[in-house]
Formats: sequence, structure tokens, C-alpha cells
Amino acid sequence: MTQYGATPRDSVALDDERRALVIIDQTKLPRAVSVLSLTAQEEIYRAIATLQVRGAPAIGVAAAIGVYLAALGIETDDWDKFYSRFVSAKQYLASSRPTAVNLFWALDRMEGVVIRNKNLPVSGIKYLLRDEAERIHDEDIRVCRAIGEHGLGLIRDGWGILTHCNAGRLAAVRYGTALAPLHLGRERGRNFKVFADETRPLLQGARLTAFELMEDGIDTTVICDNTVSRVMQNGWIQAVLVGCDRMAANGDACNKIGTSGVAIIARHYGVPFYVCAPTSTIDMNVPNGNGIVIEERAASEVTEMWYGERMAPEGAKVYNPAFDVTPADLITAVVTEHGVLRPPYGESLTALRPIQGLQRPDQYR
Ligand code: MRU
Repeated sequence: MTQYGATPRDSVALDDERRALVIIDQTKLPRAVSVLSLTAQEEIYRAIATLQVRGAPAIGVAAAIGVYLAALGIETDDWDKFYSRFVSAKQYLASSRPTAVNLFWALDRMEGVVIRNKNLPVSGIKYLLRDEAERIHDEDIRVCRAIGEHGLGLIRDGWGILTHCNAGRLAAVRYGTALAPLHLGRERGRNFKVFADETRPLLQGARLTAFELMEDGIDTTVICDNTVSRVMQNGWIQAVLVGCDRMAANGDACNKIGTSGVAIIARHYGVPFYVCAPTSTIDMNVPNGNGIVIEERAASEVTEMWYGERMAPEGAKVYNPAFDVTPADLITAVVTEHGVLRPPYGESLTALRPIQGLQRPDQYR
């Protein structure tokens, strides 16, 4: 592990020389900017599972780099043996978290390289896998910047913006999704007043969103999750911007637990609710939000994490879903790298399909 003083430009990257996945350890923020250089598959799996690297786009990029590093370690010239060990490595990383589709999307893209190039020597396939992992990394930067451009067109200088969880640069490679319009706006001298929900139980809003926005000089106020209605009632919020972990074909948007409550409150106060999502987050194989697997996490995240001492009685039952689904009819617009989609999302997402070349997970099998 290496410690640096300043935040690196990319939250996730490949270090060719050390054959390592390099990430900012998000569990240490904001107290320390700690950069991890991970080489073992178990370390990479653990980094995703424990949220050292988190956020849908970031875990996709991390998994792509991770499976490339696994491929480098497979010593055989025989394609069938290589493929079988590659698939095991892929399945191992895919089992790290269940909800964000970017994880599976990126791993499927990597597998596609192995399958399409069966005729090449294994060394050549490894070379192409490196290219694909780099492409997934670089595309994320371009895609998020484009989301930033489209999102910036929806908000005005001086507005109050509410966001939930962290869908910023820490959740992607460089700009993020929901926070990309704010970072771009900042580059262009615009001033927003951002309200960051603290986001129980893992506090991505208080720890990560506040950290990255303040680092960028953006006016940021942290609020408890149960303060959303109050700030909207005060007239302080002109738009909500959130990210997404998986969007179903009808536009239902699965994101950090609590997002759907924000959408319901926003509808009550007539505040527009925008979901910012790269097309890699859209899963056309799932017809609606009911088909999305919602990760459930450890009870200790609710009962004792962050507290000086345990706060719930021993033996108290805990329900700790990490995500919820915002019904499509509460979403004012979906901001993608290809532009702003409006309802009905069944139609607007389907129209996007030929442009994005949406891959079915079973495309290569
Ligand atoms: O459990 P997390 O922290 O990985 O959840 C992340 C979110 O819910 C983000 O809002 C989502 O991944 C969008 S990231 C650009």
C-alpha cells in the first residue's frame, strides 16, 4: 500500500509496471487519501466487496482491470484451458457485489475479447485484454464528461442541488455521473449550493460527496437523510441529481437505499428529479425494477459502524438493503452520455439501443 498526500486524478487505474489495480481507498476518506496498489485477486475482490472501490462505473473499471490481471497470471498456451481459467476468475470477481450492472457489463466485455480472438495465441489475447481494460477506463472519462455536459444544460447558476450517496468522481474514474455537471459547472465559473444527504448507513454522502465537492471548491452542506423534506420545504432545492446502479428497460432506477424516498419527496414539492446514468448502467434484459437483485449488507453497518459504542440492543433484528428502486414515473429525465431522455422511458431507452450497442450478458456465450 502506498500513501500519497493529494488525491490522484483517477480514482481507478491500471499500473502496468507493477501489474496492479490502483484505487483510492474510499473507506479511509475523508480522514486520509490512501492509495492502494492491489495485485492479488483476493485483494481486488475484497476491495469491491468492502467498498474500498465503489460506485457503479468504478467497480466496472476495477473488475475489467482485475480480470485482465488474472488473465496475465494464467500460464498456458492452450486456448481452452486459458478460457476455462479466465471464466473462473471472471465469476469470482462477478460474485463480489450483485446490484450494479456495470460490474457484469465490464466483465462480459472482457470475456468477449477472449471469445472473439480464439484464433490468436494466448499472449496476443492477453495483449488485447489490456487494451480492452484501458478502453473501458478511458471511455468512462469521456462518457462521464458527456453526462456532465448534458446535465449542466438542465440546471442554472446559483441553484440549490440535492444529491444522495456519492455519484461523483470517486464513484467513476474522473468526473462521476450525477456530480459531473457540478464539477463541469465549477470549471466554468458557475456556483451551485449542493446539499449532500449523509446516506446511512455507510455515509457515502457525508464522507465522499462532501469531500470531493469541497476539494473542488463547491459550496456543500451535509444533511441527515431525514432532512430532505425540510430543505425542499424551505425552497432551497431546485433540482435533485442522483446516480444509478442499474436501470431497468422501463426506466425504473435502482440506486443507493433512500433514493426512492428522495424522489417521492421531490415529487411532492415539484422539484425535478434527474437520474444520471451511463448506458453501461442500463440493463435492457430486466423489464422493470422488480427484477433487480438488491444487495443486503451486514447488520453491523447499522448497529455499530461509526458509533463509539453499539447503538442497537444485542439481538435486534436489522434489515439493511444497500439499494432501492425509484419507479420510472418519479423520474423527470435520465441523463446519459447520448443526451437527456424523457418519459416514456420504455420508448426512449429502446431508441437508444442501436446507438449504444447494448450488449446482452449472454451475447458471447
Ligand atoms: O454501495 P455503493 O456506495 O457502491 O452505491 C453507489 C451508489 O448507489 C451510486 O449512487 C451509484 O453507483 C451511482 S455511481 C456514479
